[in-house]
Amino acid sequence: MTNDHVKIFDTTLRDGEQAPGFSMSTDAKLIVARALCALNVDIIEAGFAAASPGDAAAVRAVAEEIEGPVICSLARASKADIDAAARALEPARRRRIHVFLGTSPTHREAKLKLSRSEVVQRIGAAVAYARGLCEDVEFSPEDAIRTERDFLLEAVTTAISAGATTINVPDTVGYTTSEEIYDLFRFLTANAPVGVIFSTHCHDDLGMAVANSLAAVRGGARQIECAINGIGERAGNCALEEVVMALATRRDFYGVGTQIDTTRIFAASQALARVTHNPIPRNKAIVGRNAFAHEAGIHQHGVLNDRRTYEIMDAESVGVPSNAIVLGKHSGKHALAARLKALGFEVSTQRIEDVFADFKRLADTCREVTDADLVRLINGNAQTDGRIGPWRMRRTELRVDREDDTRPYARITMEHDNGARRTVTEEGEGPIDAAFAAVCAITGVAGRIAVLDLHHVASEGVVRAEAVVEVDGELFSGKAQEVDIADAAVAAFVAAINQAAAIRQSGLRLVVGA
Ligand code: KIV
Ligand code: ZN
Repeated sequence: MTNDHVKIFDTTLRDGEQAPGFSMSTDAKLIVARALCALNVDIIEAGFAAASPGDAAAVRAVAEEIEGPVICSLARASKADIDAAARALEPARRRRIHVFLGTSPTHREAKLKLSRSEVVQRIGAAVAYARGLCEDVEFSPEDAIRTERDFLLEAVTTAISAGATTINVPDTVGYTTSEEIYDLFRFLTANAPVGVIFSTHCHDDLGMAVANSLAAVRGGARQIECAINGIGERAGNCALEEVVMALATRRDFYGVGTQIDTTRIFAASQALARVTHNPIPRNKAIVGRNAFAHEAGIHQHGVLNDRRTYEIMDAESVGVPSNAIVLGKHSGKHALAARLKALGFEVSTQRIEDVFADFKRLADTCREVTDADLVRLINGNAQTDGRIGPWRMRRTELRVDREDDTRPYARITMEHDNGARRTVTEEGEGPIDAAFAAVCAITGVAGRIAVLDLHHVASEGVVRAEAVVEVDGELFSGKAQEVDIADAAVAAFVAAINQAAAIRQSGLRLVVGA
């Protein structure tokens, strides 16, 4: 491996999964592991085998199925933990045991109750034992950043002499600064025995995990530990998508790269959000809905002429289908005309002038003007109830019975403008999931929920829902406002499905999604 290659060690399934609200079943972990494999990460830390039988089973399941990346399990510096890791990793084609032990004064005194020499002795014994079971051993001096430099060097040197092949230097508490970590990596790489890879593992308590990881790379780190969507203990870990795109976008500055297939980033991020039920914040770098969206008229004009005016990366390079010009009250005529053209309309300048006035009026009443809104504006075919599209909800019945073994189900009745009325019952993971399935079955539109935002507005006693639904690779959005949270979610989903149906009816195919 050349010195300009930075390994990506993904810890979404270990450090990420450890965080409150992000625990995953083995099936969920496998979904994420497949996405990580498609991303081409170098190492997947699949769990902490000794933590629980469930964790061990998940590590084993990932080790059995995933080919390509090295599969890793975390272990404390004890024989029992290392044995558990080795057992769980048995089926892996390529495996790594990651041993850790606290080295800072606080960890030594408050947690371990060990002297410096006892810590060193334990590191040597544990790494040597792990090395007897596995060729590839990583050692982490936990809380390295707050460890005395001379002692950190002693701990690291001991681990290397005992057979560690990677030395990870964790900023366990997210305390360091870019200048400090750069200097630390310069010190370690200059003074520790050669032949190992130095790795960085930064937490985001002060919002500096990505910047600090990049500084560590400048100081000599050639492995970055990170997690999709930046999940991890407390404020999280260094976000994989951010650090990878920083290295790719500023290769001129850092001079190093990764082997990540960046076009798989968006899919991996979405998969994680879906299985952990944690939506991605709209303004999240790289993978948030706004990351490549432009609403302000001046920005839209610039991007339409040359996207480099306001974009430093192509949306396609991270797997987002296209840069999204979001039409709203800040949008100008250029953007409106461009979107209508993309939708297949040949519209004269005069017609744009006429439609623009209606467009601005509509934009004042909602957060975002959708493609279906535009189709309606240009065709003047709004339904009398303001609905866009041919389907209307007639009955919703959702049921969950925790007492018996039946799965949650939904019974939905809908009516088409042509008078057809259909009722379908579907089961699902939950009643809303079942309702979505029933709506798809009724309308014949195979939609997959991509984003569901729900906001309870206490002052108005309503729930506002916004759904983004993927149909055949295109995104449709729908909004609704109801008193009940389930009604709001289902109504927003129906609105998005209706948009897809309306666009299909008009014979158009979308080029851009919102
Ligand atoms: O943050 C940390 O110190 C860790 C180690 C176990 C690597 O996650
Ligand atoms: Zn950590």
